[in-house]
Amino acid sequence: MLIEAFARDCGLSYNRRIMKWVYIEDIAAYDGQDVEIRGWVYNKRSSGKVRFLLVRDGTGLIQATASSADKETLLFLQFDRLTQESSLIVRGKVRADKRAPGGFELAMSEIEIVQVAADYPITPKEHSTPFLMEHRHLWLRSSKQHAVLRVRAEIVKAIRDFFDGRGFRLMDTPILTPSACEGTTTLFETEYFDQKAYLSQSGQLYNEATAMAFGKVYCFGPTFRAEKSKTRRHLIEFWMVEPEVAFATLSDTIELGEDLVLFILERVLTKRAHELETLERDTKPLEAVRRPFPRLTYDQALPLLREKGSTIEWGTDFGSPEETLISEIYDRPVCVTHFPAAIKAFYMQPSPENPDVVLGVDFLASEGYGEIIGGGQRIHDLGLLEKRLAEHKLPREAYEWYLDLRKYGSVPHSGFGMGVERMVSWLCGVKHIRETIPFPRLLYRIYP
Ligand code: 4AD
Ligand code: MG
Repeated sequence: MLIEAFARDCGLSYNRRIMKWVYIEDIAAYDGQDVEIRGWVYNKRSSGKVRFLLVRDGTGLIQATASSADKETLLFLQFDRLTQESSLIVRGKVRADKRAPGGFELAMSEIEIVQVAADYPITPKEHSTPFLMEHRHLWLRSSKQHAVLRVRAEIVKAIRDFFDGRGFRLMDTPILTPSACEGTTTLFETEYFDQKAYLSQSGQLYNEATAMAFGKVYCFGPTFRAEKSKTRRHLIEFWMVEPEVAFATLSDTIELGEDLVLFILERVLTKRAHELETLERDTKPLEAVRRPFPRLTYDQALPLLREKGSTIEWGTDFGSPEETLISEIYDRPVCVTHFPAAIKAFYMQPSPENPDVVLGVDFLASEGYGEIIGGGQRIHDLGLLEKRLAEHKLPREAYEWYLDLRKYGSVPHSGFGMGVERMVSWLCGVKHIRETIPFPRLLYRIYP
């Protein structure tokens, strides 16, 4: 019901006042001024003659207050109609108040209801995770989920600023592809008219082509893995940023990854401190992260793992338990290199000292958050690449263009992929990756 009609029904007079619409995150600039905030009811309470309304507008939360000896004011009558998540426009004077969350309050003069929400399902009580996941479209409004996704947006912005600032060219690689990049077991197959296509697992192969055209490039987009395992670290659809640099070696790519991680960390710690506080993230371990990140070969990592009780054999890939054990040794991310060739992708350049291991690197986040970066140096020799394609039983026809890159001005080159959700998870201290993207695609969930 319109505020004018409501006032008439109550026999009260109402004169619309025009005030400037502002966002809560900018409120400090309006101290002492009359403004309007458009948002939703997060919470409300009354105490004696005072009414408290916690309003969210997508950029923050503000407490709006009103007091009166007379309960029959239009403002109080409107307040009484409000339920959790009702949408409204609230008008009043901004005033600095150290006790108020965020340091400012709104002395309400008017509430204009847009819609009264009935029976909002997510109440301040505890809910089960399946229930919250089923209501993910609403759960996003809760303060912790909101904070995580604000950090995510900052990470994405930092990534773009980092690469754009260093002269990398953004290349948008295709989502529909005729070939596999990261093994054939996690491919999503789809029809492509009368052919088969797969959803991209990584933009890397295409980036190797764009790197030969532009020198240093990056792609940034959604990638897909039909991962049959249900873990806290795997999404079916996740976002990855992938730089690729012509003439760069494994060591160059490790330095680039280190710089990127430190750049993102610093940005989030300075610009998203408030969100990290909302998440109750202990930032000390993040502030302590310094360069250089320790570098360990796979062979050097095995005895350390065994000392910590692991029974891992040479030739086996690290799982979550191994990643966690290694990360516990250090106060910063660790770079593990020189993995056995057999457990890594077909394109990895063998080590010149020992062809059984490859010039690949995995960055393991500190505090047990797992692999955040995977990459390395690519095979640049035509004959060797042809051999690897055959060994991996990959159909040569689909890779002819990729082989061309080794025929026409082939050079050593390197790059990596960083999973955005893994970074969000680590920086926010969120244990399960499902909370790091607005609508996670998981093994047993595609709704909502
Ligand atoms: O190690 P991965 O599989 O490497 C590649 O895809 C390379 N082609 C990248 C490159 O060199 N250009 O994946 C890279 C990163 C991982 O370190 C992890 O952060 C993230 O992508 N990642 C996942 N994140 C969430 N869910 C999954 N299922 C992921 N798989 C990989
Ligand atoms: Mg990997």
